[in-house]
Amino acid sequence: NMAAGSFPCLNLCWVSCMCLTLQVEETLKPFMLSMKKLREISSRFTKEMDNGLDKKKHQKAAVKMLPTFVRAKPDGSERGDFLALDLGGTNFRVLHIRVEDKKILKVDSQICAIPQEIMQGTGHELFDHLAKCLGEFLESQKLKEQKLPLGFTFSFPCEQTEIDKSILIRWTKGFSCSGVEGKDVVQLLKDAIHKRGDYDISSVVMVNDTVATMMSCNQQEHEDPDCEIGMIIGTGTNACYMEDMKNVKRCEETEGQMCINTEWGGFGDKSPLSDPGALDDILTDFDKEVDETSINPGVHIFEKMISGMYLGEIVRLVLVELTNNNLLFEGKVTVRLDTKHTFETKHMSFIEGARVDQEVIDTIQDLLKVRCSEDDARVVSLVCDTISSRSAHLCAAALAAIANRIRLNKAKDNLKTAVGVDGTVYKKHPNFRHKLEDAVAFLAPECDLKFYISEDGSGKGAWVSGVHFCKSLGACACVSMREGVCDCVCV
Ligand code: BGC
Repeated sequence: NMAAGSFPCLNLCWVSCMCLTLQVEETLKPFMLSMKKLREISSRFTKEMDNGLDKKKHQKAAVKMLPTFVRAKPDGSERGDFLALDLGGTNFRVLHIRVEDKKILKVDSQICAIPQEIMQGTGHELFDHLAKCLGEFLESQKLKEQKLPLGFTFSFPCEQTEIDKSILIRWTKGFSCSGVEGKDVVQLLKDAIHKRGDYDISSVVMVNDTVATMMSCNQQEHEDPDCEIGMIIGTGTNACYMEDMKNVKRCEETEGQMCINTEWGGFGDKSPLSDPGALDDILTDFDKEVDETSINPGVHIFEKMISGMYLGEIVRLVLVELTNNNLLFEGKVTVRLDTKHTFETKHMSFIEGARVDQEVIDTIQDLLKVRCSEDDARVVSLVCDTISSRSAHLCAAALAAIANRIRLNKAKDNLKTAVGVDGTVYKKHPNFRHKLEDAVAFLAPECDLKFYISEDGSGKGAWVSGVHFCKSLGACACVSMREGVCDCVCV
């Protein structure tokens, strides 16, 4: 299986080298999933998608399949000025966007950090902080007197009842602000803005980052068919896709299409419909430990096997185990090596992208305060490769299920479609995307998927989604303010 067994032990005799290789392989084996297993996981995901769309079962489903109220992809006629807010990780971005001639232009933007105390503080503190950042941005742009419409990309699972009403189901990715789960986040934002009283906004449109990414992918110029899938593999992971309304049994309507936010991060979670969890047979002890020591144990199991927030930590736990078994770092577990989150996903990207040389050895020594030999560095590199490969393969299994679903909806033997993608793991890791794309081609041979990296899609796409929603309603959208006058697009 890929790199396993292929690392030479430069400084060891042949017999001890073989023995070491076998023991390392033994530890890594549970992470290596065969194509047969991945196919099985892909079918389990299909079943979970069915549960999530079902009229009766959806409330108990692990994969939530949330309606987004985005009914169609942009058609190029969108135009105007908009504010976009993007909250999904450790940063909060505010953007001033202009759309014209099928192009989305970023007029200006600002990033505000979300400190750990706020990520894990109260909901009021969080929304006050967001309103403050937005206020500062408007001030710097001299936009405070205008009442611009706002697209809010909020990248957490939300039950949306309307495009501007979004109830947070649960926090993910290290957030745990109190008093927000079960509440309408659009209202919380509006309340925080009104409390300040120094500026106001007009309509708010909420979207998930996957949806924004899919929408903005359709604004990019490419010759391929429309993007019908949006996917994020970054701090967290998720995907959305265009589904036929007749299959969305949880909604009354049967005509047309709607973008469904799968919230695939929840795949594998135990629920009354999936007990044992759908991924229990492939969870390793390391995965269980990552879950148990996380701030949201028991939920978003798939995400914890895949996304950037957790991959480095899985690697670290494997390194500790190997060191405890005397297979690494002279058997010495240092305080750094034994400390949570000292090894991050970006370090995996660096190590896997480099040849094992002095720089890699120095990086490992520096990070973990260990004595690292060249053989040790090769083992570390192999561990990183194994964990990132599993992540790519699991994503591929779920993505193949979505692609096949779209193909069957269209009753086609072969499907050609495009996927808009964003997220640091996909964009920055040296091999991730190739492994993912190769595995999808294998698991869904009837589907020809083209992948488009979205540049800033999560912020810009909020705009497109918003305008398009208004259009689909036949309503007018206030898309631009010029000298205090609202410029509306009506369809
Ligand atoms: C959230 C999703 C989001 C994904 C990527 C997950 O933790 O639940 O809503 O799309 O992260 O940012």
